[in-house]
Amino acid sequence: MKPRNFYIETYGCQMNVSDSEIVNSILMENGMEPVDEPGEADVIFVNTCSIRENAESKVWNRLHQFKSMQEEMGENITVGVLGCMAERIRDKMLEKKQLVDLVVGPDAYRDLPKLLQKVDSGQKAVNVQLSLEETYADIKPVRTSTNGVSAFVTIMRGCDNMCSFCVVPFTRGRERSRPVESILDELKQLRDQGYKEVTLLGQNVNSYYDEESDTSFAELMYKASQVDPEIRFRFSSPHPKDFPEELLHIINEQPNLCNYIHIPAQSGNTDVLERMRRPYTREEYLALTEKMRDIIPGVSLSTDIIAGFCDETEEEHRDTMSLMRKVQYDQAFMFAYSERGRTLAQRKYEDNVPEDVKKRRLNEIIEQQMNIQEQLNKQEVGRRHLMLVEGPSKKSDQQLCGRTDTNKMVILDRNDFEAGDYLEVEIRDYTAATLFADVIEKSSIQEFNTTREKVVV
Ligand code: SAH
Ligand code: SF4
Ligand code: F3S
Repeated sequence: MKPRNFYIETYGCQMNVSDSEIVNSILMENGMEPVDEPGEADVIFVNTCSIRENAESKVWNRLHQFKSMQEEMGENITVGVLGCMAERIRDKMLEKKQLVDLVVGPDAYRDLPKLLQKVDSGQKAVNVQLSLEETYADIKPVRTSTNGVSAFVTIMRGCDNMCSFCVVPFTRGRERSRPVESILDELKQLRDQGYKEVTLLGQNVNSYYDEESDTSFAELMYKASQVDPEIRFRFSSPHPKDFPEELLHIINEQPNLCNYIHIPAQSGNTDVLERMRRPYTREEYLALTEKMRDIIPGVSLSTDIIAGFCDETEEEHRDTMSLMRKVQYDQAFMFAYSERGRTLAQRKYEDNVPEDVKKRRLNEIIEQQMNIQEQLNKQEVGRRHLMLVEGPSKKSDQQLCGRTDTNKMVILDRNDFEAGDYLEVEIRDYTAATLFADVIEKSSIQEFNTTREKVVV
């Protein structure tokens, strides 16, 4: 294969971000060089997302732009589609005005060098085969676009849950867990590279299970916490149906497991949840979040919500609103339902909530959530947190941004601090999305925790 420059543009969830790092690694092993701009690349990859209609339309637009770029610059650049859209629409992609040269699904990245050779010889190349085993366990991801402070590590791939609205089981295939030793090795490597925060990723992390070593998700989190007391750990996403209680105790006991849980509800109404094939009731979900708050004092919670799912009535929508008031989430990711091909909902139900009603319900949900967050953040004023500095803030390089252990964005004046510092800060102001703080002193996870215990005693 000719040595060439490549550029990857990544859409979708953190799993895709993590996958792009695996692709980086595979291509660099084969003598290719990553570049920061599509204009500098011989090969442009778009790592795609299918989760909602608008995620896909964004990618289509981008592919058309790259196509025009390709035509302007001659035939020398290759455009390839990676990720979740690959599986779904490979045929359409290759036919449609020959928009792309290469289509590679999420389990076929090892095949990329061979496929690029095929493209070199003037053919189109496709591999969208899903796998029962592939976890890329032995591949060391190359993190080209990080702040050097926070990293994602994929611990499992695929999903077997088959929520009726969701396309992921079709785009990413069956669930499989990565061996625990390969995960711990990667964490140690990140430690040696100076990373301070790691998020362990999977579509349904509770069902992580490494057969070889008989390791459950809770045990994996414990083992991760022991890699380094000064690296803090998060995970995403667990499922409410079987959240392990043991893990709540482990989070509470280990200072470097963050007091923050993303726990997707999707809806606050039991009938809707049943149509969504989410096997828990409103009451069970509420009991779970209460247990989280009991076992981990001060835990912050976030969620995912879908507005306007098939047959959703006004009353069912109001149940979602009231669930969100009850739980008092610190953050929420809120979406209007978007019908996806091949899903159970598409086959079995009608997408019958009119667009304007979906939009209105979504807006009500968002507006209420912004008010809740503002109220919650108001209560933060005067409190102390341990913040991990991520880098300069978006608005000004005189300011730094970072997150509390509870995953809230904090802004403060720069002074002499830098990315990777742990700071004890006191909150002085807030908006619905951001906290503003003053620095008390440079600190560490261990230091902050001993002082906090002293204060409590
Ligand atoms: N595996 C994760 C979710 C991955 S998708 C989990 O179960 O938590 C992220 C979010 O996108 C989902 O939680 C859901 O809220 C939303 N989503 C998924 N399919 C959707 C659809 N068809 N329409 C609208 N939102 C959807
Ligand atoms: Fe989709 Fe449900 Fe799997 Fe999450 S758990 S990826 S929502 S099928
Ligand atoms: Fe999108 Fe695939 Fe993630 S559909 S949300 S990129 S798993």
